[in-house]
Amino acid sequence: MGPLQIKDILQTAPENQSVVVKGWVRTKRESKNAIFIALNDGSTINNIQAVAEPGQFSAELLLTVTTGSCLKVTGQLIASQGAGQTVEVKISDIEVYGTADPEEYPLQPKKHSLEFLREIAHLRPRTNTFSAILRIRHALAFAVHQYFNDKGFFYLHTPVITASDAEGAGEMFRVTTLDLNNLPRTEEGAINFKEDFFGREANLTVSGQLEGELGAMALSKIYTFGPTFRAENSNTTRHLAEFWMIEPEMAFFELEDNMDLAEDFVKKVITYALINCKDDLNFLQNRLTEEEKSKPQNERSLPLLEKLAFVVDNPFERLTYTEAIDILLKSKPHKEGKFQFPVGWGIDLSSEHERYLVEKHFKKPVILTNYPREIKSFYMKLDEDGKTVRAMDVLFPGIGEIIGGSQREESYEKLLGRVKEIGIDPENLWWYLETRKFGTAPHSGFGLGFERLVQFVTGMGNIRDVIPFPRYPKSAEF
Ligand code: 4AD
Ligand code: MG
Repeated sequence: MGPLQIKDILQTAPENQSVVVKGWVRTKRESKNAIFIALNDGSTINNIQAVAEPGQFSAELLLTVTTGSCLKVTGQLIASQGAGQTVEVKISDIEVYGTADPEEYPLQPKKHSLEFLREIAHLRPRTNTFSAILRIRHALAFAVHQYFNDKGFFYLHTPVITASDAEGAGEMFRVTTLDLNNLPRTEEGAINFKEDFFGREANLTVSGQLEGELGAMALSKIYTFGPTFRAENSNTTRHLAEFWMIEPEMAFFELEDNMDLAEDFVKKVITYALINCKDDLNFLQNRLTEEEKSKPQNERSLPLLEKLAFVVDNPFERLTYTEAIDILLKSKPHKEGKFQFPVGWGIDLSSEHERYLVEKHFKKPVILTNYPREIKSFYMKLDEDGKTVRAMDVLFPGIGEIIGGSQREESYEKLLGRVKEIGIDPENLWWYLETRKFGTAPHSGFGLGFERLVQFVTGMGNIRDVIPFPRYPKSAEF
């Protein structure tokens, strides 16, 4: 089916056999004795070299073979004469599928900034960096499904359009078909959502968790893997308005089990990438090393592959929020007033605090547990002291929070109390509350931000560069 991919052709023993290669021109180089065309079809970071003799093709045709043009090349697969590849194609025929005028085509064979590439997101997958990221992203997604399937989890498709705010943070995008220029009103003058498509207010989901819990209360172990949407106005290198989240939810799991699963899960998917994405990871590692050359020696980070192996090989540090606050209070940057934000029991840790714990103090991933109830979501199980909840955040070097999760409150009364306390109308969550009325059980789950994982594995500094078409404030072009 279809032509051979360049990835496979490069692995084939050269026996003068005829081959057809289809791909985009990365570079064309002409010397006295030969014309070299490097072709790439995205199946691998490696190009295949196709070689023609001078005079073999008309100057007119060769003028259309430029960086970015798309070709069908027919020829023979031979052992490569030059260094850098084992096989090459001796061209007998070239068909130009599509030209790319060098005056207009923005991707020339030189270094482009990531900012510039973001403006041409429709073409950036044709660069080495972005094709490597997209292949790794795919491999990680595949590894996620494989991991859960092997562990007896069921993939539950939770809705993208919801009427509830799972995180209670009010950061939702509204979904409506009402005419914004002519809104239906109630007698009191409010917008009459009864006339809207769903007969009520609806939004894009911020998390599949609440429906995930319904699934876990029947199938025991489920996971979701879908897009989530947050209208938070965060212009940071770690936030997107549309991102993909993986949310496992397990009946009969307590916080300890939840932590064990989270740690094993991220280690296994990273291991999958280490085994299956070697060429791409090597390419990205070299790219990062190059980038870091301008930094002083002591500020350079570990080479990418060493960093990933380190995370896979070492146990994560586990401690409570309260212990973490003690460490921060005793820390040098706190004593010297170097933190931008104050430290004290009850604060929501900011990224500088998380990074101090992970990168300076423990120098490895950290799982923080038992946060103050006030700074966490309503569904988390209350600890005996009534002050903290059975929350867990997994913090990664360079990323900060990569996973957020908890044991869930399984007591109907306590959950109802929390729902009212934070001002949610229990009527809106009647179905969720009923799981605690009918056969409730201890259960736990977490959410892994998929792009933050891809960011960690690829070493990319900005989350906007690890999703094909990023959505962030004032940007939804492609
Ligand atoms: O900590 P969060 O908000 O947790 C939840 O949504 C829970 N319902 C998860 C659960 O228990 N089932 O989000 C989970 C993760 C974060 O740790 C982070 O990695 C990622 O989602 N995340 C984002 N990633 C990119 N852009 C954003 N705006 C993100 N907000 C959260
Ligand atoms: Mg969180």
